[in-house]
Amino acid sequence: MSDEIIKEEVSGKDRRSFLNLSIFISFAVAIGGALYPVIKYLLPADSTKGTEGGETFFISADDVSVGSAKLVRYKNRPTIVVRLKENEVYALSAVCTHLGCIVKWHEDAKELLCPCHAARFDLYGNVLGGPAPKPLPAYKAAVEEDRILIREA
Ligand code: FES
Repeated sequence: MSDEIIKEEVSGKDRRSFLNLSIFISFAVAIGGALYPVIKYLLPADSTKGTEGGETFFISADDVSVGSAKLVRYKNRPTIVVRLKENEVYALSAVCTHLGCIVKWHEDAKELLCPCHAARFDLYGNVLGGPAPKPLPAYKAAVEEDRILIREA
């Protein structure tokens, strides 16, 4: 074999190796990107077993500034945490009892409002208006040091 043919074979093998490596990396990135949100969804965030045996969930108090609300997953359910004052927090199921839309906090009215059919709830979950047939389930919530704790009422 001449030197030219050997050089072309070597360079062909390098190209194939490079292509195989590129395909492998592309697959790894695609699979990782697809699995990351699934794994993140399945793993509960920042929860521990409470002293009474019930699950206590906590988030950083810095995540919910005074006057605002944050949507979290507590016991795998959408839960809205509202911080009215520095040490006054509320946690309720965010699933509207009418047809299951996610309620939103309206600071001006100090109410939770369902964007789908305008059901309104107070911070204890009581229905203030609209078609919702039942109150929103409420949880115990408290600010302790730099965390907001949530547990079953
Ligand atoms: S789903 Fe909330 S009012 Fe209809």
